[in-house]
Parts: sequence; structure tokens; C-alpha cells
Amino acid sequence: MNQIYIVANWKMNTSISDSINISNMLINSNLDHANINITICPPTLYIYPVYQILKNSSFQIGAQNIYSEDNGAFTGEISARMIKDFCDTVIIGHSERRQILKESNQDINQKFISAKNFNLNSIICVGETIEERETGTAKEIVTKQILSALKPVSNFTNTNLMIAYEPVWAIGSGKAATAKDAQNMCIHIRNTISEISEEKLSQNIPILYGGSVNSDNIKQFISQPDINGALIGSASLDPNEFIKLIQKIK
Ligand code: PGA
Repeated sequence: MNQIYIVANWKMNTSISDSINISNMLINSNLDHANINITICPPTLYIYPVYQILKNSSFQIGAQNIYSEDNGAFTGEISARMIKDFCDTVIIGHSERRQILKESNQDINQKFISAKNFNLNSIICVGETIEERETGTAKEIVTKQILSALKPVSNFTNTNLMIAYEPVWAIGSGKAATAKDAQNMCIHIRNTISEISEEKLSQNIPILYGGSVNSDNIKQFISQPDINGALIGSASLDPNEFIKLIQKIK
């Protein structure tokens, strides 16, 4: 796979002026990012202003979450139907949502089905906690997260699915996984997908690594054979650092 995928997850950060400023800096940076697919995921409230700036550019826009229903009495939620006019992509099952907001594997599966119904590309996040890693159950946990998210949807393709492997202990901690450990889990993820799809398809599903990625370590990750890109949190909030990170890939 020649294409590299970089996804910026701003989480619940930025103000309206930060969002506009970062988007303008990206546009004006004249970044040559042929073969690097870049998706910016602002907080929901700022999707539309960011869309206004990036809509005719080569940057894509993503949401950080959706609810599984299309519309109705679900106070505070947004749906795939609503975001599809502004976003290409949605992050589903980020560990902060699994852990803090108690999303289950089943919720994540329902969200994936909804995203797919509206032709959104889903980035399904999986990853183990530090306890799970230390007790040797990391692969088992990740297998379960993947199979329960995907199994009933047998017709996913490499245009509607990416997987992000994000070990919970590496997120926002400054302690990234080693490239070797990340590769090891990403090949496990690819093998797991091949159990429920054609071999060729599993080879073409982009698998990203996430967790304390920055401009210093990005190259180690994307040079691994089964890592096709990265999901970036903190380092995407500083436009100079983010631009540097993309330049490093080039
Ligand atoms: P981080 O976050 O880059 O700040 O570790 C990654 C993520 O949560 O997606």
C-alpha cells in the first residue's frame, strides 16, 4: 500500500479561533502531501467552520464520534446522517469513549453500521489497557474488539474501513509503543480481518498506529510493513509540529 493515512484528532480541544487558525495554516502551508491522505477531526461544534475552509482542499474532514441512530429523541447526540454533508470519515470507539463514556463493543458495531449506511469511512479504534498488556491478554482483547465491531458487516471494504491500533497506555502519555510492538499488533489485526474477509481485502485495509506519535517518531511507525499511517492527538494541535510531522513522512 503506497498511501499513508494521517488523522488529526483534536479531541475536546481548540476554540473557534484556534480551529480557523490551524485550518488556515494547513491550507497556506503548501504542504506537498501527494500519497498522504490527511483527515482533520475537529470537535463537532467546529466541523462546519473547518469544512468552510478545507472543503475545496486536499484535506479531508472527520467527526470524532456519531450516535448509531439516524435521528430522533437522543438529546445531545449527532448522527451519521447529519455529518455526512461535511465529513468523509468518522472515528468510532476511541478508547476515551470506551473508557470514560462506557461505550461497548456492541455500541461500536452499531455506529459502524450507521456510518457505512451513509457512506462514511470509519476509523475503528482498538487497543489494550496496561493491565491487559501486562497480563498477556492484549491480542485477545484486540481480536474481540475487531470481530465484534465488524463481524455482522461482512461487506466492508478498504474504502469504508480503517483500523487504528491505539494502546490505551500510550495515548497522551508521551510513551509511545515501540515500532516493533506496534507492528506486531498491526499484523495480528490484519490476520484477524483476513479471517472474516478475503485475504486481498485484509491486505488493503489501512491500519494506523496511535499513541504519542510526533514528528520525532512518526517515521519509525510508518516504515513498518503493516502500519499504514497514524492517528495523532496532541501533536496535531500545534500546526507547526503537525506540518513538520507530515514533512517527515515525505
Ligand atoms: P496522542 O493521542 O497522540 O495525544 O497520544 C492519540 C489519540 O488519542 O488518538
